[in-house]
Amino acid sequence: GALATPALAQATYPTRTITMIVPFAAGGPTDTVGRLIAQAMAADLGQTVVVENVGGAGGTLGAQRTAQARPDGYNILLHHIGMSTIPTLYRRLAYDPINGFETIGLVTEVPMTLVARKDFPAQNLAELIAHVRREREKINYANAGIGAASHLCGLLFQKAIETPFTTVPYRGTAPAMNDLLAGTVDLMCDQTTNTTEQIRAGAIRAFAVTTPERIAALPDLPTAAQGGLPGFEVTVWHGLYAPRNTPAPIVERLNGALVAALRNETVARRFADLGTAPVAAERATPQFHRQFWQADIQKWRPLIQAAGQYAD
Ligand code: MLT
Repeated sequence: GALATPALAQATYPTRTITMIVPFAAGGPTDTVGRLIAQAMAADLGQTVVVENVGGAGGTLGAQRTAQARPDGYNILLHHIGMSTIPTLYRRLAYDPINGFETIGLVTEVPMTLVARKDFPAQNLAELIAHVRREREKINYANAGIGAASHLCGLLFQKAIETPFTTVPYRGTAPAMNDLLAGTVDLMCDQTTNTTEQIRAGAIRAFAVTTPERIAALPDLPTAAQGGLPGFEVTVWHGLYAPRNTPAPIVERLNGALVAALRNETVARRFADLGTAPVAAERATPQFHRQFWQADIQKWRPLIQAAGQYAD
């Protein structure tokens, strides 16, 4: 008959377009990583990989879409550190945030930058902290919703300076960046994949990078520790997922394409421009990805519980 058996379908996979869900707005940091990887994976797979932006609710809507999709290899998800915070932040979800997925491999780890609208009245991190403490009722901090990296970084910053402030949620940090550029919000902590070019252009002001060392893409930017906030550190890892029960041979094929994408020179060069890099080969396996993710859930759980701010 015309219908392929499941085994044959796996042997010939992929025979049509694959959809990669990015759970945040187009033009933002997750989208930037997703589109670069999708294009390079497509070259290896011999099929188009279409990126679909399913933003909203801190990245949970896109994750839900993938968890509920057919586990046939034609639906994959590029998600980030939110996969570690969402299981604690959200007490009710329409999908299983841990067991709803097969892991394909880690993709990249991205530094974050603490930034403000360019006319914000502070020239360095010490002045920023003093200003936020003094004017905390007036501060508006943009993020991409509860579960976003910008949300987690905001929690860490509020904890580090022991000062709560108002947060404004967006569908991704691309639209949040537009408001920061327009000056209608004050502050954000966002990935270098979204901020590096705006910082270099002087369109926003940067105060610190959230890594233990300065980064080559922004060599003049002090670390948070150098600016007076030791321990204010976060790096945003990205990983690739398929719905649970996607057959192992298909997950392996997708992993092969991911590994090829991470070796792609265009990807590596663009990542470097934006302050990041492809992960080392041993981190780009389904097994490493799952272990890393499970450990990361445990790492962030106490911090989130201490902050006591949950989604509904
Ligand atoms: C995005 O792509 O918009 C970001 O990854 C959002 C975030 O997590 O801060």
